[in-house]
Amino acid sequence: MSPDRSRAPELRKFVAPEIVFGVGARRLAGRYAANLRAERVLLVTDPGVIAAGWAADLQRSLEDVGIAYSCFSQISPNPRAEEMMLGSEQYRLAGCDVIVAIGGGSVVDCAKGIGIVSSNRRHILEFEGVDNVTEPMPPVICIPTTGGTSADVSQFVIVSDRAFRTKRAIISKSVVPDISLVDPETLTTMDPFLTACTGMDALVHAVEAFVSNAHSPLTDVHALEAIRLIYPNLAASVRAPTDVALRTPVMLGSLEAGLAFSNASLGAVHAMAHSVGGYLDLPHGECNALLLRHVAAFNYRSASERYEQVGLAMGLDLRGMSGSRKRAAILRALDALRAELGVTGTLASRGVSGSDVSELAEHALRDACLVTNPRSANRRDLEVLYEEAL
Ligand SMILES: [Fe+2]
Repeated sequence: MSPDRSRAPELRKFVAPEIVFGVGARRLAGRYAANLRAERVLLVTDPGVIAAGWAADLQRSLEDVGIAYSCFSQISPNPRAEEMMLGSEQYRLAGCDVIVAIGGGSVVDCAKGIGIVSSNRRHILEFEGVDNVTEPMPPVICIPTTGGTSADVSQFVIVSDRAFRTKRAIISKSVVPDISLVDPETLTTMDPFLTACTGMDALVHAVEAFVSNAHSPLTDVHALEAIRLIYPNLAASVRAPTDVALRTPVMLGSLEAGLAFSNASLGAVHAMAHSVGGYLDLPHGECNALLLRHVAAFNYRSASERYEQVGLAMGLDLRGMSGSRKRAAILRALDALRAELGVTGTLASRGVSGSDVSELAEHALRDACLVTNPRSANRRDLEVLYEEAL
């Protein structure tokens, strides 16, 4: 590619934690905690991860190196501000000095929220927005157990604010964990619907990062590779849940999508999904899955070449097609994946009614993810998109 000398190059940064990827990575948690000179760990997890046996694995890993821990597991599927405040109180009272989180995005987001509050001693909701976290968190080690949210590598913390029935985004370099131990084996206990929803979340991360106004060559390479890994393997991993050979590309794709969106940010799918997920307390990945094709159809004319590359990464043969046929083929491929995964609902079937649309659009309009959407969307645009997804 020849350089474009007509304009000054834009500055782009790329932030990532230390990452260990591969089967068995989770067993390194104790050794990494010891390297950080941990004396007492706050072990953050949730009841589902405990039942699956992954938390016990982590306890053994800490016991093997003689590190004490205090366990915090009172975490809802969409982690709430109060839970982060409660966890930070436990961190303080137990005299912890390192946080180790094992679980899905809710657990990791909660662990990061606990870290923010523990260092900054203010209410978690005061940090909403971009770059409002001044003091660094204590050391945080994450072990993700879903192939989706990538909170273990990202600059995002999403907090459910039940008082306003919405979600708040905290975006800061300070909330990138120190170490992420990404172990595909942990995905084998996810049920089909959770696999489908978290996998769709990861795919949406890749697509939104790739078409984002803040994308860069550093994020593009990860976004496209994530799509190449997730699109052909996700449905197969739903059908064969214990097959680690299928879980591995989905987990790697999720990780790469996380690196991409953490640094390129997201778009209207996430702005709208945060709004509807916070309003009705619905699974994040499912909200994304129900909105993706509608937002892609809306955005297409502003980023058609980028969407064509998304289509090629999904394995579509777009040669010889007109622009409108390419657009139709790409939207069809997104619909086909959702159908194959069995995520067949609509917003209406999940409890959204026409009278909610105005408030949902109002919340989405204020979400930080909307800023980087390739096509600017006003309140009416968002209302129409919600109506289309009903
Ligand atoms: Fe997401």
